[in-house]
Amino acid sequence: MTDTLIKGGRIITAADDYHADVLLSAGQIALIGADLDVRADRVIDARGHYVLPGAVDMHTHLEMPFGGTMTCDDFTTGTLAAVHGGTTSIVDFCVQQQGQSLPDALATWHEKITRCPPFADVGFHVAVTDLSDPARLDELAALPEQGVTSIKLFMAYKGAIMVDDETLFRTMQVAGRSGSLVMVHAENGDAIQVLIEQALAAGNTGTAWHGRTRPPITEAEATSRAIDFAQLADCPLYVVHVSCGEALAPVERARAAGAKVWAETCSQYLYLDESVLDLPDFAGAKAVFTPPPRAKHNQEILWSALDRGVLEVVSSDHCPFRWADQKALGRDDFSKIPNGGPGIEDRVELLHEFGVRTGRLTLNQWVDMTATAPARLFGLRGKGSIAVGGDADVVVFDPERERTISAASQHSAIDYNLYEGITVHGGPTAVFVRGELVVRDGETVAEPGTGRFVARERFGAGRTYAHA
Ligand code: URP
Ligand code: ZN
Ligand code: ZN
Repeated sequence: MTDTLIKGGRIITAADDYHADVLLSAGQIALIGADLDVRADRVIDARGHYVLPGAVDMHTHLEMPFGGTMTCDDFTTGTLAAVHGGTTSIVDFCVQQQGQSLPDALATWHEKITRCPPFADVGFHVAVTDLSDPARLDELAALPEQGVTSIKLFMAYKGAIMVDDETLFRTMQVAGRSGSLVMVHAENGDAIQVLIEQALAAGNTGTAWHGRTRPPITEAEATSRAIDFAQLADCPLYVVHVSCGEALAPVERARAAGAKVWAETCSQYLYLDESVLDLPDFAGAKAVFTPPPRAKHNQEILWSALDRGVLEVVSSDHCPFRWADQKALGRDDFSKIPNGGPGIEDRVELLHEFGVRTGRLTLNQWVDMTATAPARLFGLRGKGSIAVGGDADVVVFDPERERTISAASQHSAIDYNLYEGITVHGGPTAVFVRGELVVRDGETVAEPGTGRFVARERFGAGRTYAHA
């Protein structure tokens, strides 16, 4: 493998900010130091640029059957989009089908990365949907042996992948004992289903009703319930895609009390508000993701929570459905629009533009919430930092590079971009996955397969967590 010397860059980690050279060798960060006098096959001049740990996106849905269709990015196209945005590891949701064993579900997801080799490293969470066979509980306990140390439960999507409270609680009990982190999609799916049926019966079929039938209190209630159950089961909990102040409140309370509770928000809640659901000519369908975009005042609440460390991670929840033929399934009925939006490629640059450049976040916070914290929480040893012996997942980032986000130039297979027309400053000029140069100056310079499955450590292995 080619050795690379990255010279003269400004290294930014979650804790540090300094100038040094970095040598990548045999897939690892081999040396860090001032003016390194070493031979290398390739030298990258990083003067004036940041040298960052490859970002980690632990909330993606690639090639996932959902809403009567399948997300349109496979592991090759989805991770191609990821690496172009500086993300070198993802953790994707392997969803158990009804009646399916968990090993079978995992085998299905492994087949996807064999058939469509990834550019970025890939881990899996298992989304449990059916525990009716008691054998599933033993399978749950055995997941960490297969490198899967987080389990997802959907408290919404009734009639599809939603679980009841018994399943939620039993899963938490097993996870708490076996070293897995439980993740919840927290919305009260029963109440939402009633509201959807009532809206449709009254002839309210347009995209705005996606938001109106999922009010903040449904997210807040489920968040509180999940936190209470996790406490009862003595299980660490991670709340995905927190979208509003009402749902943040129980997270903040629990953390202040020292509970083992963590939470993320996602790009779309920081930059889009509920008005996008009103866009005419079915354009609102592009923003039909769940929880829905919220009233604008929530954005400042989320920014503040990120700054104060109440929310520790910003993920993408990349769940791409093409507008022309997939979102169109719900043209006459908002409840049939497959829920989800894109974001894997733009997450890091958007947070640099609207977090760092506005002064809301420091560079260290930016790296922490896009790389270090997700790697630490989800057991990705060797990732999320620039440290000797760590994986050579490294991004050279030009803070001044200007780019206007557009579906026409993105790498995902989706046919729209939620941030179309927004100009961002700062982007990767070189992206390495375990030492292999994958992206250089906007060009893909590697073949699919630079990424591979990564087994993750049990929750908390060898780490301490500040608030808990
Ligand atoms: O709308 C969304 N977020 N779709 C993906 C599935 C989920 O809820 O995370
Ligand atoms: Zn969700
Ligand atoms: Zn999701």
